[in-house]
Amino acid sequence: MQISPLTGGLGAEITGVDVRDAGQFESLQAAFAKHSVIVIRNQQDITPEDHLAFARKFGPINVNRFFKPVDGHPEIATVTKEKDQKEAVGEGWHTDHSYDTAPALGSILRAIEVPPYGGDTLFVSMGMAYDALSAPMQRFLEGLSAWHSSRHVFGASAEDSEAARSGRLANATAATQDVLHPVIIRHPLSGRKGIYVNPVFTTRIDGLADTESEALLNFLYLHCQQPEFQARVRWQAGDISMWDNRATWHKAINDYHGFRRHMHRVTIEGCPLDGVSA
Ligand code: SIN
Repeated sequence: MQISPLTGGLGAEITGVDVRDAGQFESLQAAFAKHSVIVIRNQQDITPEDHLAFARKFGPINVNRFFKPVDGHPEIATVTKEKDQKEAVGEGWHTDHSYDTAPALGSILRAIEVPPYGGDTLFVSMGMAYDALSAPMQRFLEGLSAWHSSRHVFGASAEDSEAARSGRLANATAATQDVLHPVIIRHPLSGRKGIYVNPVFTTRIDGLADTESEALLNFLYLHCQQPEFQARVRWQAGDISMWDNRATWHKAINDYHGFRRHMHRVTIEGCPLDGVSA
């Protein structure tokens, strides 16, 4: 197995491995813990059952409520953009399921069909973004919590989106989650501190005036998007990428109009998140 870092601080590309091989799992698990994003190349023969079996080695499956499920596999979500569609799922910077009380540990995306160019996924290290803040700003943020919600993204207001009209997103009445998480979390496994707000699901910082909350969130979003904290995954059909939702943001690049991109995603159960003083 060859593990090659994608950047100085986030992500690794892995070749020479088969995710079905139980004997290689520990090395993959260690690579995931170290790099937060792993791109496992050349998994062309993987079936939906293999995808689920690999995910279950990390924990129970967290079934997405809003994405169209794969026929016969309700635990797998489709992430597809047809060649005549304009909107892609996941175009804004986000972390999956941050609107849940116990946000998903991670997500495993399998590329089945990719466009001839474009359709990359970008990632940000929230630990690197935290480390780059000044000590007074870190201390200030460590005392704060923020609200996250599914309502404005998957609820009634989204029903007129192309994704909802085309059936890629559904179940708007289930978009009832509002939850408070610390703005700075301690990663449940590594203990590393990281920023835990994101532009898609975070709605406000608790206890601040509206203008203060908006200004602070905008500052954090700009800060986190610095290229120095990013890694970029260029997909090939058959690749599997796995990312840590407690340590990263991600964003699907929608630059391949006229071509189809078809992925299957499995998400793994997480746990409630603690602030740094817990
Ligand atoms: C997602 O946000 O889960 C999808 C990311 C992608 O399609 O690249």
